[in-house]
Amino acid sequence: MITVVGNLKGGCGKSTITFNLAVWLARHGIDVVTFDLDPQATLSDAIEVRREEGVTPDVKVFRSESDPARIMANHRGEALVDVGASNLWAMRQAIGQADRILSPVPPSQADVWSTARFLEIVKETASTRIKRPEIYLFVNRADTHPMLRESDETEAALATLPGVTVLKTRICQRTAYRRSFSEGRAVFELAPGGKASQEFLELAGLLYPELHSSATPSESRSSKQGA
Ligand SMILES: Nc1ncnc2c1ncn2[C@@H]1O[C@H](COP(=O)(O)OP(=O)(O)O)[C@@H](O)[C@H]1O
Ligand SMILES: [Mg+2]
Repeated sequence: MITVVGNLKGGCGKSTITFNLAVWLARHGIDVVTFDLDPQATLSDAIEVRREEGVTPDVKVFRSESDPARIMANHRGEALVDVGASNLWAMRQAIGQADRILSPVPPSQADVWSTARFLEIVKETASTRIKRPEIYLFVNRADTHPMLRESDETEAALATLPGVTVLKTRICQRTAYRRSFSEGRAVFELAPGGKASQEFLELAGLLYPELHSSATPSESRSSKQGA
């Protein structure tokens, strides 16, 4: 299955989520390849740090110059594709092959707007396909303070977008994610019982229920409204 992790905004957590999911799949013994189609190359850098630190399992990463469309088409295992707005051509190529799109959205109005614009690109790019990709959105970098309403408001706004599923799981703003990159380890490797780990494992379980029987897509909040 090809999962494209995308959104138009930098900093929303695309590379973070791709890296952590890739490690999680690799640790389940899944044949996973990643594609870093963003010229910023954060995913490649994180995987490079992981290699330098000698952390296993290793995660395969291909860059845009490696003919990603062909590799994706021929790969039989799981593929995770990190795409950003700085290479719209690669973004469209990836969307053209995606089984599903996963989009992290920070809790702000600007991020809701840019997600809506990203969905227009998805719709337009996938319009000629017989089977459209599923679209999953979730709030990333949520505030941990219980009095702040932005994450609730963002989820509510995302749920009004047509043809999407808003996952119930939220990933909060946690320092473990910054350490994750600097140490080349997934958050559940750094602090297995920590809050970042618990939240991430819930997200991974929703996305790959066959690998995580305690969480199923039925736990996600769906707002399928056609499209
Ligand atoms: N949930 C989170 N909590 C704390 N920091 C985060 C979280 N998600 C992402 N970050 C940090 O935000 C920065 C941008 O994330 P990144 O995944 O590179 O975004 P993108 O790939 O969308 O540009 C990185 O420093 C990353 O560690
Ligand atoms: Mg990135």
